[in-house]
Amino acid sequence: MQIEELMIKLENQKWLEKAEWIQLIEGRTEQTSQFLFERAREIRNRYYGNEIYVRGLIEFTNYCKNDCFYCGIRKSNQDAIRYRLSLEEIMECCATGYALGFRTFVLQGGEDPYYSKNRMVEIISTIRKQYEDCAITLSIGEKDYDEYKAYYQAGADRYLLRHETADETHYQSLHPQSLSLENRKKCLWDLKEIGFQVGTGFMIGSPNQTSQSLARDMMFISELKPHMIGIGPFISHHKTPFSDEINGTLEETLYFIGLLRLLRPGCLIPATTALGTIDPRGREKGIQAGANVVMPNLSPVSVRKKYDLYDNKICTGDEAAECRNCLTQRMQNIGHQIVISRGDYKGE
Ligand code: SAM
Ligand code: FES
Repeated sequence: MQIEELMIKLENQKWLEKAEWIQLIEGRTEQTSQFLFERAREIRNRYYGNEIYVRGLIEFTNYCKNDCFYCGIRKSNQDAIRYRLSLEEIMECCATGYALGFRTFVLQGGEDPYYSKNRMVEIISTIRKQYEDCAITLSIGEKDYDEYKAYYQAGADRYLLRHETADETHYQSLHPQSLSLENRKKCLWDLKEIGFQVGTGFMIGSPNQTSQSLARDMMFISELKPHMIGIGPFISHHKTPFSDEINGTLEETLYFIGLLRLLRPGCLIPATTALGTIDPRGREKGIQAGANVVMPNLSPVSVRKKYDLYDNKICTGDEAAECRNCLTQRMQNIGHQIVISRGDYKGE
């Protein structure tokens, strides 16, 4: 089958065989990409028009007990300058964000045991009480069922947990023995069962990635049916075991944004900061490939540089208002409009 025909098949059936996925992944050319982006934009517009949702990202701790080989805040990076935000500091970020029109706050951090279940519940319920009209998204890694449930009951609405790769061998090559794909997946299923809007995703171009592993990623996403999908290029960090690995590319990341839009038409798909890092217009191009969300940073400027997942991360010196205005302008330039809304999932 021609690549374009496979794309139409994907759009109609929202499912492909593994061999078809591989053919589609390996069939990326300038021409097939342009065909794909056109389909992806049309589908995105059907659900979301020209509206772009914003999420205020609060990176509240860069302590991490894990040691993922790709990540700059891994515990073995002795050069990382560690920080934690207090409840008051987090509330200040929310206040700044609310005034700027954010109606979703994303609390993201390393896996930091300091933020015990009780501390997290306190943070979530304090935000929930003060901002009834806002969504609270968590992105704090793998926890057990009861802990997730406590967060949900305290008022959290959404959870982001990228599966990173759905291929067992590939997973082991990116993570230490203590982490497993099996547990990562279990967490995602638990989160869904509890009632969270769930986000998953993976890096493009991570070391040892193949068309096979990417096909598995797409098949896992067909199975999980997440509400949000975050993908971005792998970007090396100089203080990790992957310091000499090459980065994922803009073109491949955009291609996957397009494919994901065909696979999960109503999904919330961000044009990520990592995409903006590998190309000065990466986020705009992400939107033009089918994304519909941007996630500017609300963390205090004093800690921004310390949340150093990969080299050359953008926006580390800008105040929240600058980022908000910059993105408003960037989206306007490509005919889109950032809206003041919780920005919930509109899919089927
Ligand atoms: N600790 C939480 C977790 O594990 O889900 C959230 C924070 S974690 C740093 C957020 C995401 O950053 C990861 O899921 C990973 O995909 C991404 N990331 C980490 N290192 C990266 C790198 N070098 N290049 C691109 N993305 C990276
Ligand atoms: Fe931060 Fe543009 S989004 S400066």
